[in-house]
Amino acid sequence: MSQELNLILLGPPGAGKGTQAARLVQDFNIPWASTGDMLRTAVAEGSELGIKAKGFMDSGALVPDELIVDLIVERVRNADSADGFLLDGYPRTIPQADALAEALQGLSRTVTAALLIELDDEEVIRRLSGRRVCTASGHGYHLDFDPPKHEGICDQDGSRLIQRDDDKPDVIKNRLEVYHAQTKPLVEYYENLGLLRRFDGSRGQTEVHDHIRAAMATLRLEETV
Ligand code: AP5
Repeated sequence: MSQELNLILLGPPGAGKGTQAARLVQDFNIPWASTGDMLRTAVAEGSELGIKAKGFMDSGALVPDELIVDLIVERVRNADSADGFLLDGYPRTIPQADALAEALQGLSRTVTAALLIELDDEEVIRRLSGRRVCTASGHGYHLDFDPPKHEGICDQDGSRLIQRDDDKPDVIKNRLEVYHAQTKPLVEYYENLGLLRRFDGSRGQTEVHDHIRAAMATLRLEETV
């Protein structure tokens, strides 16, 4: 049985996907692709993709599938993803999940597990309202749960911390609606494939991380028997 780890992180906005991804890529030494980060970079660079994506992102809508799918298909075909990858924020729709499955099938590979971090809407609003990110490398903080040592300054590289434009109250509300309507159906999709693993995102960051690691260890053990 393959020891590849082809992982996807699912969950509502602010559930802690990025927070956990940063830890998991160190545990498993696999590349991490965040479509949100890729798109924010494209917007900051003013690339053609960024110009097309900006309006959707600012309003909390999803960027159309046709702008995203090729980015990810190319990413999983890249040589550095041969032993696995961690996708954070992709797929967000059933067509995106189908496109990923098709691309992997072409490489004789499959998704190993879909890691769902669950969090209720009220807590999502609390998480996103208090989130701050560093302008240089995107390191994440939370005003209540994970504050920087010095207000407004990144502990890791000293750069300025900002609030993301889509973390404003009206946009958060739209992002949640979009999640429930377009992304949540993926929970059933991966459950039906027997790939879904659920985690309680309301626990502390370390506890969530420990639970995911334990589940991955069990999964690897199951693969060897
Ligand atoms: P994206 O950047 O992917 O946003 P998202 O999915 O809404 O997720 P977030 O980054 O907001 O949250 P997260 O779950 O990573 O939480 P985090 O770890 O930061 O996408 C942005 C936009 O891009 C989309 O709206 C869409 O327009 C577009 N887009 C992206 N991908 C797309 C796709 N595939 N198709 C189409 N469009 C796409 O944590 C949040 C906060 O909580 C932080 O402050 C953190 O410190 C804190 N925290 C984390 N864990 C805990 C914990 N356990 N306890 C307490 N606090 C915690």
